Amino acid sequence: MAQRQRINLKVNGVEYEGEVEPRKLLVDFLREDLELLGTHVGCEHGVCGACTILLNGKAVRSCLMLAVQADGAELTTIEGLAQGAQLHPIQEAFHEHHGLQCGFCTPGMLLTSHEFLQENPSPTREEAKKAISGVLCRCTGYKQVIDSVMAAAETMKNE
Ligand code: FES
Ligand code: FES
Repeated sequence: MAQRQRINLKVNGVEYEGEVEPRKLLVDFLREDLELLGTHVGCEHGVCGACTILLNGKAVRSCLMLAVQADGAELTTIEGLAQGAQLHPIQEAFHEHHGLQCGFCTPGMLLTSHEFLQENPSPTREEAKKAISGVLCRCTGYKQVIDSVMAAAETMKNE
C-alpha cells in the first residue's frame, strides 16, 4: 500500500488535517474521505465540469488534481455555498429560473458561475454563455442556465 501523506486544508471553512494516499484524486478525497457527495464525478478526465470546486476562489476540476496538491488550500464545494438555510443568490436564481433538472451538472454550474460573477459582476449574456460553456448539461438546455446566471448577477449587484 502506498505511503500516506499528511495534508492540511480548509474545506467550506472547516480545517482538515489528515493523511491521504498520494495518488488519490481530490474529487475522491472530497467524496470518500470527507463525505461531501455534492461534488459529482462525470467524465473523470476534465471534460464535463461536474466535479468543479473552488480552490482559493478559483474554479478547478477536482478530477484533474490530486488531494495532496490541495495541501494548504482553501476549498469551497457546493455544500459550502449556502449560509445555513439561506441559499446563495446563484442557487436562488437557478431555482427561480429553472436552471436545473436532474442536478448532476449543477454543482459545477454554480461554482463556475460563482467564480465568473466574482470576476465579472455585470456580464453580457454572451459572456455568461461563454463562462458556463465548459460545463456540460445533458438535460436543462443552456437557455435557462444563462437566464439564471444573469439573474444572479442582477441580485448580487444590488446586495
Ligand atoms: S468529472 Fe471532472 S471534468 Fe468531468
Ligand atoms: S441538469 Fe441534468 S445534467 Fe444538467
